[in-house]
Amino acid sequence: MPILNGDSMAPANVDALDFSKALEVLEKEYPERDGIDAKTLIDSARNGGLTYNDFLMVPGYIGFPASDVTLESPVTKRIALKTPFISSPMDTVTEHNMAIHLALLGGLGVIHHNCSSDEQAEMVRKVKRFENGFILDPVVISPTTTVAEAKALKEKWGFGGFPVTENGTLRSKLVGIITPRDVQFHDNLNDPVSAVMSTDLVTARQGIDLVEANSILSKSKKGKLPIVDENFNLIALLSRSDLMKNMHYPLASKLPHSKQLISAAAIGTRPEDKIRLQKLVDAGLDIVILDSSQGNSMYQIEMIKYIKEKYPGLDVIGGNVVTREQAATLIAAGVDGLRIGMGSGSACITQEVMAVGRPQATSVYNVAQFSKRFGVPCIADGGIQNVGHIVKGLAMGATTVMMGGLLAGTTESPGQYFVGRDGQLVKAYRGMGSIDAMEDKKAAAGNKDAKASNAGTARYFSEGDRVLVAQGVSGSVQDRGSITKFVPYLMAGVQHSLQDIGVKSLVDLREGVVNGSVRFELRTASAQAEGGVHGLHSFDKKLYS
Ligand code: IMP
Repeated sequence: MPILNGDSMAPANVDALDFSKALEVLEKEYPERDGIDAKTLIDSARNGGLTYNDFLMVPGYIGFPASDVTLESPVTKRIALKTPFISSPMDTVTEHNMAIHLALLGGLGVIHHNCSSDEQAEMVRKVKRFENGFILDPVVISPTTTVAEAKALKEKWGFGGFPVTENGTLRSKLVGIITPRDVQFHDNLNDPVSAVMSTDLVTARQGIDLVEANSILSKSKKGKLPIVDENFNLIALLSRSDLMKNMHYPLASKLPHSKQLISAAAIGTRPEDKIRLQKLVDAGLDIVILDSSQGNSMYQIEMIKYIKEKYPGLDVIGGNVVTREQAATLIAAGVDGLRIGMGSGSACITQEVMAVGRPQATSVYNVAQFSKRFGVPCIADGGIQNVGHIVKGLAMGATTVMMGGLLAGTTESPGQYFVGRDGQLVKAYRGMGSIDAMEDKKAAAGNKDAKASNAGTARYFSEGDRVLVAQGVSGSVQDRGSITKFVPYLMAGVQHSLQDIGVKSLVDLREGVVNGSVRFELRTASAQAEGGVHGLHSFDKKLYS
């Protein structure tokens, strides 16, 4: 049934009704794909960098369901994550709670250093202990430990089941086990735990494999399974709650052959940071981030070399950088990963005050495409406001993205919710270069331990500085609920976006960008207005359910 008449728009050499020729015509007459490639995109703004809002990706072909899209991606030369999301080392974003829960979901939380080195090391320890197959260094108490002390240990560690051995250490004879219920309603706080501990123990012998031990634990009605040697000395512990967690978090970030979560923490580049680092390494640190807003410095190069020599098993992420030249210096010094961004953070006023920085999309493209040649993965750090920004950061070549403000409003970030000016539930969020954060650091530097080991604000301020020059602001962000819902939403969003682009993995995305099959379009100011909600009298922006 013809629907076009004689004055159709078809060129003379094509039979307008032969639709099957569309692909042939496309191939023959349009050798260039629609849209522009990434290099042309970046070059088109040669005299001004691009931010994430300045461009879009054009759709490709959907030949698979979104759930088939995989998001595995490296964060360092040696370590890959199943979910390419990292939380910022900021004191309103990442402490052990965020680090644990983000790692369980396949991401990584970088523990901040605006605290004493002991506090930071303790947070790393909590991450490493959180989910274990066999807990090889369980907290052990002695029969003379008091009920009050056992309760205090529960507060400190966040769990209350402790094996009791003759002399209160590992590799000593197991005599009982204390659970929170044993001490909860015991009024005489000075009683020794030997008066309340259970001695009816289910144990397993050293050498048992994890599957078998898990099966004994599942069948027993106990919360913990102590592993003992032939003399009944305690060797390790298996925990029922870990068993449940192992079952529920298939994406959890772990090193091969390890049941422990991967831990990451930030430090500065001062001499005292070497002492801090030793404590973090003793606590089990896997990845250290050198936290500097301008990473291309003699201090950082010296620190990278020192770390690579002293701790060859520890991965070092350097930065921040926004140019190829900065990246080259740190790659040459031996970094295992780079962090890209200067001035794009939501609480950041660096570009305004220091007059240095770079629009984030241009920074990520230039650094990541260069670092790729050396196999050095890159984190796109800062300026991520939504799922689209995540995808754009990854399309520019970053292997992971780092978020501060977007995660600061979740229940896993430090601090309490409060009611904001507009009556909405909010949480505090502040730049680490805000006066607030720097003054906290300065106050802490007054105490002895802090002086020896604190260096958090070194990112933005030198101890000799008389005047604190702010590079960040302090404010609040809206409640986003738990990351156990929010992060799966971000993941699903990225999967759908990659499906629209027509790539099945982040590797395919990066390859498509380099070989030109993933295409882009610049966005004018009016295109940006068109791409947002417009013309509505009012609306609710509910992002997921
Ligand atoms: P956001 O995700 O846009 O909120 O940006 C988070 C990032 O901002 C962090 O990972 C840091 O790189 C950066 N940042 C944190 N504090 C400051 C500051 O005070 N000034 C400038 N940048 C900051």
